[in-house]
Amino acid sequence: MEDRSSWQIKDEATLTELVALMNLSPEEIAVMKDMLPEAQAAAPGMTKTFYERLFAHDATAEYLKNVSMDRLHGMVQTWFAELFSGQYDNAYAQRRLTIGHVHVKIGLPVRYPLAMLDVVMPFGEQVAAKHANPTLAAQAFRKVLALDVAIFNQAYEDNQLKHLAELVGGERLARRLLAGT
Ligand code: HEM
Repeated sequence: MEDRSSWQIKDEATLTELVALMNLSPEEIAVMKDMLPEAQAAAPGMTKTFYERLFAHDATAEYLKNVSMDRLHGMVQTWFAELFSGQYDNAYAQRRLTIGHVHVKIGLPVRYPLAMLDVVMPFGEQVAAKHANPTLAAQAFRKVLALDVAIFNQAYEDNQLKHLAELVGGERLARRLLAGT
C-alpha cells in the first residue's frame, strides 16, 4: 500500500480540508449565520429530545449516571447553536475535535453519537425551513453537520491511530495494520 497525502492532514487542518472538499461557499456560511437566532430558540427542544432518546436505551443511559445533566443540556445546546456560528475556523475545529475526544475518553462506542444524528437532523431542517431561502439553508445545514460528524469521527480515529502507532513504533505501520495489509 502506498502512502497517501491525506495521512499528512492532521488536527485542525482536517476542517480546512473538509470545507474545501464540501465546497462550503460564502453564501452558505452567510445563510448559516442568518439562522443562528432560530437555532438558539430550537436548541432547548432539540436537547430535550436528544436526552429522552439516550435515557430510553439502557446501554446509552448508563453513560449518563453520575454526570450533571444541567451542564450537559447546556453544552449540547451550545454545540447545536455553534453549528450556525458561521465561523468554521481553527478554533471551531479544535472545539469540535475536543468534544469528540471527550466521548472517546468515556469509552463510548462511536455508533451512538453517529446514530444521534437522527435526532439532530430534523431540528436543523425545521430551522432551515423558516429561512427566506429554505433550499439553500437546508443544503448549508447538511454540509456543516456533515463536517461536524467527520470531525467527531476523526477524534476517534486519531485516538486509535495514536495508540496503535505507539505500540508498533510508527504511524505508517499502524496505518498498514489498520488497512489489514
Ligand atoms: C451528536 C452526538 C453528540 C453530541 C453532539 C454530544 C455533545 C456533547 C458535548 C458538547 C459535551 C461536552 C463536552 C465537553 O465537556 O467539552 C458532551 C459530553 C458528554 N456526552 Fe455527549 N454528545 C453526543 C452524543 C453522546 C452520546 C450518544 C452519549 C452517551 C450515551 C453522550 C454522553 C456524554 C457524556 C457522559 C458527557 C460528559 C463527559 C464528561 O464530562 O465526563 N454523548 N457531549
